[in-house]
Amino acid sequence: MKDKILVWDWPTRVFHWLLVACFAGSWITSGSDRYLLIHVSCGYTIFALMVFRLLWGLAGSRHARFASFLRGPGAAVGYVRSLLRGPAAHFTGHNPAGGWAIALMIVLGLITPIFGWITYNEWTGDWAAETHETLAWAFLILVGLHLLGVIVGSVAHRENLAAAMLSGFKRGDATEAIPRAYGWLALVMLIGVGLLWWWSMSV
Ligand code: HEM
Ligand code: HEM
Repeated sequence: MKDKILVWDWPTRVFHWLLVACFAGSWITSGSDRYLLIHVSCGYTIFALMVFRLLWGLAGSRHARFASFLRGPGAAVGYVRSLLRGPAAHFTGHNPAGGWAIALMIVLGLITPIFGWITYNEWTGDWAAETHETLAWAFLILVGLHLLGVIVGSVAHRENLAAAMLSGFKRGDATEAIPRAYGWLALVMLIGVGLLWWWSMSV
C-alpha cells in the first residue's frame, strides 16, 4: 500500500493554475481591440510566470527541478512506447515525455509574449504580428498535446493527475515526498501578479 505523499509544492501549483487562467485569458481576448489591455496583461503574466518557473526549475523542490525530469529524447520515446505497449512506466514527478512538453511550453511562454510586445509597440512591420500569432498557435497545439498526455497518463496509472496538480498530493513511496510546500512563496507570487496587473492596466 503506497502512502499519500506531497509531490507538488505550492509555487508549482499556483504557477500552473495562473498559467492556465492567463493562457485562456490571452486566447479569449486575442483579436479584439476592446480587450487588448487584458490580452497584454495576461501575456505579461505568462512571461513573468515562465521567468519564475526557470528559477524554480533550478532552485525549487525535488520534483519541480529540471534535473529531476528533463531527460533525452530516447527516454521520452521509451515512455510513450511503454504507454502504448505496457506496462506503463511510472514516475512520481513528471514523466520524460511531459518533461519535453514542459520545456517547450516554457520556451513558447517566453517568446510568444516578446513578439506580442514588439507588435504592441509597432516596432516592425507585419512579420512580428504574424510570428506572434504563429507562436500562439504552436503553443495552443502543445497545450492540446499536454492535455492528451495528462488524460492518457491518468488512465494508464489510474491516478487523477489533474487533482494532484490541485492538491499537491499523489500516492507514492514515502521516500519520494517533498518535505516543504513553500506556501509563503506562493503568496509572494500572487502579490507579484497582482502588482503586475495593476501596473500593466495603468501604463
Ligand atoms: C484544464 C487544463 C489543464 C489541466 C487539467 C492540466 C493538468 C496538468 C497536470 C496534471 C500536470 C502535471 C503533469 C504530471 O503529473 O507530470 C500539469 C503540468 C503542467 N502544465 Fe498543465 N494542465 C492544464 C492546462 C495547461 C495549460 C493551458 C498550460 C500552458 C499554458 C499548462 C502547462 C503546464 C506546465 C508548464 C506544467 C508543468 C508544471 C510544473 O512543473 O511547473 N497546463 N498540467
Ligand atoms: C502567451 C501569451 C500570448 C498569446 C497566447 C497571444 C495570442 C495572440 C493571438 C492568437 C493573436 C492573434 C489575434 C488575431 O489577429 O486573430 C494575438 C494578437 C496580438 N497580441 Fe497576443 N498573445 C500573447 C501575448 C501578448 C503580449 C504580451 C502582447 C503585448 C505586450 C500581445 C499583443 C498582441 C497584439 C498587439 C496583437 C494584435 C496583432 C495584430 O495586429 O494582428 N500579445 N495574440
